[in-house]
Amino acid sequence: MYTQQDERRLYEQAKHLLQHDAANTDDTITQLREVINYADWKYYVQNEPTLSDAEYDHLFKKLKHSEEKYPELITADSPTQRVAQGLSERFPTVSHLVPMLSLDNTYNAEDLTDWDKRCRQLAETDNLEYCVEPKYDGASISLIYNNGNLSRGATRGDGVMGEEVTANIRQIKAIPLSASLVKQGITQIEIRGEIVIHKNVFESFNKQRVAEGLSPLANPRNAASGTLRMLDPAEVKKRGLNAILYHISDYTLSAGSKRPKELNTHYGSLQWLYSLGFPTPAKEMKVFKHIDEVIAYCHEFEGQRDSLAFEVDGLVIKVNDFALQDRMGMTSHHPRWAVAYKFKARQATSKLLRVEFQVGRVGAITPVAKIEPVHIGGVTVSSISLFNEDVVREKDVRIGDTVLVERAGDVIPYIVKPLTELRTGLEKEIKFPTHCPACNSELEKQQDEAAWRCININCPVQVVERMMHFASKDAMDIRSLGAANVQKFFDIGLLKDIPGIYHIDWDRVKGIEGFGEKSVSNLKQAIEQSKQQPLSRLLFGLGIRHVGETTAKTLASAVSDIREFYDWDIEKLSTLQDIGPKVATSVIDFFARKENREIIEKLEKAGINLANEHKGEQQTNGELAGKTFLFTGTLSHFKRSDAETIVEEKGGSILGGVSSKLNYLVVGEDAGSKLEKAKKLGTVNILTEQEFLKIVEG
Ligand code: IVH
Repeated sequence: MYTQQDERRLYEQAKHLLQHDAANTDDTITQLREVINYADWKYYVQNEPTLSDAEYDHLFKKLKHSEEKYPELITADSPTQRVAQGLSERFPTVSHLVPMLSLDNTYNAEDLTDWDKRCRQLAETDNLEYCVEPKYDGASISLIYNNGNLSRGATRGDGVMGEEVTANIRQIKAIPLSASLVKQGITQIEIRGEIVIHKNVFESFNKQRVAEGLSPLANPRNAASGTLRMLDPAEVKKRGLNAILYHISDYTLSAGSKRPKELNTHYGSLQWLYSLGFPTPAKEMKVFKHIDEVIAYCHEFEGQRDSLAFEVDGLVIKVNDFALQDRMGMTSHHPRWAVAYKFKARQATSKLLRVEFQVGRVGAITPVAKIEPVHIGGVTVSSISLFNEDVVREKDVRIGDTVLVERAGDVIPYIVKPLTELRTGLEKEIKFPTHCPACNSELEKQQDEAAWRCININCPVQVVERMMHFASKDAMDIRSLGAANVQKFFDIGLLKDIPGIYHIDWDRVKGIEGFGEKSVSNLKQAIEQSKQQPLSRLLFGLGIRHVGETTAKTLASAVSDIREFYDWDIEKLSTLQDIGPKVATSVIDFFARKENREIIEKLEKAGINLANEHKGEQQTNGELAGKTFLFTGTLSHFKRSDAETIVEEKGGSILGGVSSKLNYLVVGEDAGSKLEKAKKLGTVNILTEQEFLKIVEG
């Protein structure tokens, strides 16, 4: 759709529009629409943002203001018209131009070989070409463009009738509101595709649900299809859906027009759609002549499924030539010229044997379902978190239930639902403990939290978990003091608390099986070295609730000694970057507790560094002084931790999330919700790795 020349022109045009207030309104409005559509295409279809979010926002506002001044110049395909308008009561039912059929499934090489034989018979030729593309696991949709404008978007429904969800579809920026189809001689076209949700977006969406006490959705497909049916388009907009279009089901040529030559094959048609700005798997599709090549590709691709940005549950193999497709026809259920090759199921059923209640480092009690071990997608699952009591109640799972378990992508396994139809009546309700399973203290639940909590600071499980965390790699990094050794030392009474790590009775350690002279000396050395760790690691290692690595760094840079926090209050803490009232309250609570102050005094006596000699330096020195950064997605030039160190060495700081305090978001591959959020915020500069390099290299 855009030649290199177009791209250069539009980029220059964008920069020009950003710098100048052009005089001619009619022209300016057209130019603004052009560059915004181009920016949307780069961002959503090509995944290569061209403009920073602030720039994009500026252009968008400019267009909006101009259109407000000259409403007669507003067109339905203007990017401003994606803006959500009002609520709808329910969705009207509409008929599809062509029934939306399903696909026949294959599961192995033999099935595919059989299908190939049938294809050759039906097509009456041995000269077949197969096009192979991912089978996206989302919600299927049909889009109709009339005279180049998106006129209708509908869900699949029962295949004949679907729900008209145009207002919601218009919120999905990957879907063009208009395209130059008329120039191609097409007056009407129906395109099929899938609404998908990026795995990262899905993951943060689920985290949010769990934090709100709701049960996480089992897979991105449910999230996509649920979102598509939301009544408020503004909500749909917030969810950051994406789309992939994979089939032209119908089109009408204008009188006297010749069919574009690309519309002779499936491959050609998707490349053609892509060139017109539509999100198709143009880059992912492959053409093969022999089924053996198709089979080899299916096996190869299955191995890569976890590395894809969207959930894919198989591949779709289609006869490439449209004339042959027509000859082969359809059944009432599926086309005969296409078949799905399904990857190994990531769902299985199993029996819920019992529920154990685990105590976390900060006392939260998590119900964990113990199920009869099942294989799902190459791993054996026997333990599944049920998150909290609200989730258990909402799903109504009971002990003895047969449960459906799913492992979507690299996401941790979930219990999707109990199969209530298999209940015998002997299933038992899951009873939540009133007392801590480790120390028997009475559990508490705060009003705004879903989790029950053990608040006994001396609860043995929490004590051990805290020590494990303190010694861990990202905290004090005491290499030889891993989780197993901490547990062992605790069990035999060698280690009781964090300061005890610095007073280990070495004579007793020497007597423990597996501890030779060498390992004792390694452990001694690692413990000794940890005394000089920077204050940020100590702050992280102390396990203060809501204080992760980044927050610990922010806290450390604000003081010259950890004990300064004894006199801080919530207001003072809230002035620090990225620290909100929740974190601030937790920090204040931690330092107010007598037992925590005692730990700190003991650590000082043992010679542990409590000081930060570089207080405030990050804010005042270096060329990135006062600038905040965040990295998202997979970086190809650096390890993320190295990139963060570069920023910090130059005086900048790393934030934990996207907020109004963030100056730069550096975007690697497969960036998800952070990028979406930053775009929405409109104040964050979005950088590619190259742009980041330019900044750090001055
Ligand atoms: S072709 C007549 N191609 O899978 C055209 N479908 O299980 C039939 N799907 O209903 C569809 N990726 O929602 C096709 N690349 C792809 C697809 C795909 C996902 C969905 C589609 C279909 C379902 C069948």
